[in-house]
Amino acid sequence: MMSNEEVYAGGLLNRALNPATQPPEIREFLRAEIDLLRGVITDGMQVIDSGCGTGRHLALLGDRLRMGVGVDYQHGYITEAHGRASAPQLYFVTSDATAVPIDHVFDFAACLTNTWGTMSDKAGVLNEMRRLAPVPQTRLLSVYAETSVPARREWYRRLGHAVLEESPEYLITEGGFRSEHFSEARLRRLVGDCTIRQLTGIAYVVTF
Ligand SMILES: C[S@@+](CC[C@H](N)C(=O)[O-])C[C@H]1O[C@@H](n2cnc3c(N)ncnc32)[C@H](O)[C@@H]1O
Repeated sequence: MMSNEEVYAGGLLNRALNPATQPPEIREFLRAEIDLLRGVITDGMQVIDSGCGTGRHLALLGDRLRMGVGVDYQHGYITEAHGRASAPQLYFVTSDATAVPIDHVFDFAACLTNTWGTMSDKAGVLNEMRRLAPVPQTRLLSVYAETSVPARREWYRRLGHAVLEESPEYLITEGGFRSEHFSEARLRRLVGDCTIRQLTGIAYVVTF
């Protein structure tokens, strides 16, 4: 079976971000996430986005940032991100989010749109976010709740990734895409000390 890395290399992200493929609950979540970011990321901040994909969040917020850095292990996405966001304060780096080759202190670290729920070494990503943004509560994850399963099943099916396996913690599709969802209790176990808020009916925002 294919790994998430191979699935992303096949370009799944761009199809998934086409609103025409998105059930209404997913569209509402993606919009709410952007509204939330506009509230918490303020003028002059230095921000790092782990698993930035093609850089859409940094591109949206770029004008207000002193510096924005996006990190993704898919070099093709990083190339697209460069093409989309040309602001001189935005940087995009091909790297695994568990070993970011940057030694800089950021005001804020984000890992958005359930990206953390597709990453295999979750603790490794949290450790890097803590290193890069050392102040507690300036690190933010947005992840799917268990209530997201029906909408995600429909979305993945439209993307040619019908769900083959469902557990209380993840979905695996026939194309080999693995995506997790979380309960509050599991988030607390994995993240430790954190604040959890609901975002729309299908997601959580975790700050730590
Ligand atoms: C669900 S997509 C979201 C992309 C982007 N944050 C967005 O919202 O448009 C997850 C992204 O994480 C990247 N990714 C997954 N695991 C990674 C890892 N260990 N290190 C770096 N990037 C990773 C994938 O290549 C993909 O672009």
